[in-house]
Amino acid sequence: MTEGFHGRTVLIPGGGRGIGYAAGVMMANQGAKVALADVVGDRATEAAARLKDETGAETLGIACDIANPDDVHRMISSAQSALGDIDIMVNTAAIVADKTFMESTPEDWKQILDICLYGSMNVIHAVLPGMVERNYGRIVCLASDAARTGQARHSYYAAAKGGVISLVKSVAQEVGRNGVTLNVVSPGATDTELRKGREKEVLEAIGEERFAKREQTILRMYPTRRLGQPDDIAAGIVYLCGDGASWVTGQVLSINGGFAMV
Ligand SMILES: NC(=O)c1ccc[n+]([C@@H]2O[C@H](COP(=O)([O-])OP(=O)(O)OC[C@H]3O[C@@H](n4cnc5c(N)ncnc54)[C@H](O)[C@@H]3O)[C@@H](O)[C@H]2O)c1
Repeated sequence: MTEGFHGRTVLIPGGGRGIGYAAGVMMANQGAKVALADVVGDRATEAAARLKDETGAETLGIACDIANPDDVHRMISSAQSALGDIDIMVNTAAIVADKTFMESTPEDWKQILDICLYGSMNVIHAVLPGMVERNYGRIVCLASDAARTGQARHSYYAAAKGGVISLVKSVAQEVGRNGVTLNVVSPGATDTELRKGREKEVLEAIGEERFAKREQTILRMYPTRRLGQPDDIAAGIVYLCGDGASWVTGQVLSINGGFAMV
C-alpha cells in the first residue's frame, strides 16, 4: 500500500456505490479519510461502514441530495467536523435519462438539470471557499461521453453534462492561482448499477433477442470490446486527485475503451 493520500480528506457525493465508491476505495487504500454522501442515506452509511472494514480508513456516510443547497452545506459541515477540512471532492452523483427529446417534458429536463448541473454547481460552490483559503484543493466532476459526442435518447442528460464541462473549465481558470485544480472525468458505458438499471428497462421493452443483438452492436463501438468497470474510471479520478496532477487543470479525461477519440 502506498500512502499518496495520507492525511487528506476526501468527500464523494454519489459515493454510495458505483464509480464514486470505487474511487473511495482506491484513495482510502492510499491513506485518505473518506466521506461518502448519497441521496439514499442508508446506502451512504452502509458503504462507509464497508469501506472502513475493507481498508481500515476513517470513513463517514452522509445523507445528502446535491440538488438542495442547504443539504449540501450540511454535508460539508458534517464531513469537516468528523474528518477535517476537505482537500479533495469527487462529484459522482447523477441520474440518467432515456427518452427522445420529443418524448421528454420540461419536468424531465428540470429533474436532470437540478441534479447533474445545479448539483455540480452546489457542491463546487460550497467546497471551494475553504479550498481557496487553504490554498489547496482537488475537484473532479463526472461528465459523460454523451456530452462530448451527443447521444440519442440522452439529449438533456448530455446537455447537463456539457454544462458541467464548461463550469469546471471556467472555475479552473478562476482558482488555479489558489492551488485548486478542477477536472472532469468522462466515462463511456461502465458496468454499474446505474447502467444495469437502465439496461433492465431496455430488456423489458424490446425482448431478449433484440436485446442480445443490441449488446453486440454496443460492444462493437468499443475498440477494446468490453464495457468499463468502476475501477477503470476510478484510476483516472485518483490520478487527477493526486499530487502528481498538480499541473493538470480544466481538462476532460475520457475513459471509454476508445469509444470516442475526441
Ligand atoms: N455508468 C456509466 O455507464 C456512466 C457513463 C457515463 C457517465 N457516468 C457518470 O458517472 C457518475 C457515476 O455513475 P455510476 O455509474 O457510478 O452511478 P450509480 O448510480 O452507480 O452511482 C451514483 C450514486 O449517486 C447517487 N445520487 C443520485 N442522485 C443523487 C443526488 N441528487 N444527490 C446525491 N446522490 C445522488 C445515487 O443514489 C447513486 O448511489 C455519474 O455522474 C454518471 O452520470 C456513468
